[in-house]
Amino acid sequence: MDYYKNKHVYITGGSSGIGLEIARKLFSYGANLTIIARNSAKLEDARQDIEKFKVFPQQFIRCLSVDVANNNELSCVISQEIKESEAPDILINSAGIIACDYLGNISYETFDAVMKINLYGTRNMIAQALPAMKQGSHIVIISSMAGLVGMCGYTAYGTSKFALVGLAECLRGELKQKGIYLTVVCPPEIDTPMLLDEMKTMPYESRILKNMAGQLKLESVVTNILRNVARKKFMVMPGLRAKWLWLTQRFTPSLFRLSSDMITKWALSRKSASSDG
Ligand SMILES: NC(=O)c1ccc[n+]([C@@H]2O[C@H](COP(=O)([O-])OP(=O)(O)OC[C@H]3O[C@@H](n4cnc5c(N)ncnc54)[C@H](OP(=O)(O)O)[C@@H]3O)[C@@H](O)[C@H]2O)c1
Repeated sequence: MDYYKNKHVYITGGSSGIGLEIARKLFSYGANLTIIARNSAKLEDARQDIEKFKVFPQQFIRCLSVDVANNNELSCVISQEIKESEAPDILINSAGIIACDYLGNISYETFDAVMKINLYGTRNMIAQALPAMKQGSHIVIISSMAGLVGMCGYTAYGTSKFALVGLAECLRGELKQKGIYLTVVCPPEIDTPMLLDEMKTMPYESRILKNMAGQLKLESVVTNILRNVARKKFMVMPGLRAKWLWLTQRFTPSLFRLSSDMITKWALSRKSASSDG
């Protein structure tokens, strides 16, 4: 995809899952990369993996080990990066964590960490990079289908992802005046390492509800995301089942809630029948 050739792309969460697959693809399209995450060993593994997709000898990958939730640390690291290399032509915010459980089982500290990384981390990264970004550059925010459709078990994660959609809606108008594009991505479930964390505490009925949106394959979803970012679409919602779910929730919210409550009730009765038997 020519849109990415010779562009410098910063990717938070570039060491794993969606961010890593985006990095692989962008490198194969001729972009230069700065990938950002906390764990430096995972960043180095990712760098070696991404290198295999090089298409021009002068292409580079830089790794920054930093916590996006720590605004002071991030500010130093990003201003240094902009001085040493250049400001991002494209900034992709993919860093995120999940906690999926009933609200009563999610501690204040966990709720706080989800909000600080998913929401504030994205805000911090954009706030640090934006002053140096030029007209024609592009910011991408990875939210989630859980940022458009409410589900039990998602009070922490879903809240952070709804907030990201709100951030995108408000920021879009500000960026438009500066000639900077914004895309917010709301995918359903994708097979990445994040799912292993989610499974640890996910309530049974949340699993049944989530199945309604379906699971997508990482490689095809990332191709879809990058194609739509290149078209400068504001909202990208990969997956037909996810789109259908969102349309139902948006245009017939009462029917959506009724169906969701009925499915939850059925899942809970099935769970209690199987534990009795
Ligand atoms: N997988 C899905 O089903 C799905 C669906 C919809 C939306 N999403 C969203 O897509 C994004 C990527 O998810 P994924 O599935 O690719 O997850 P993943 O494989 O667990 O990757 C998460 C990435 O974020 C980095 N990260 C986490 N906390 C960070 C912090 N405080 N500072 C800097 N980097 C941090 C991680 O590296 P370190 O741990 O080393 O920092 C890792 O590189 C997330 O925002 C997620 O909410 C995922």
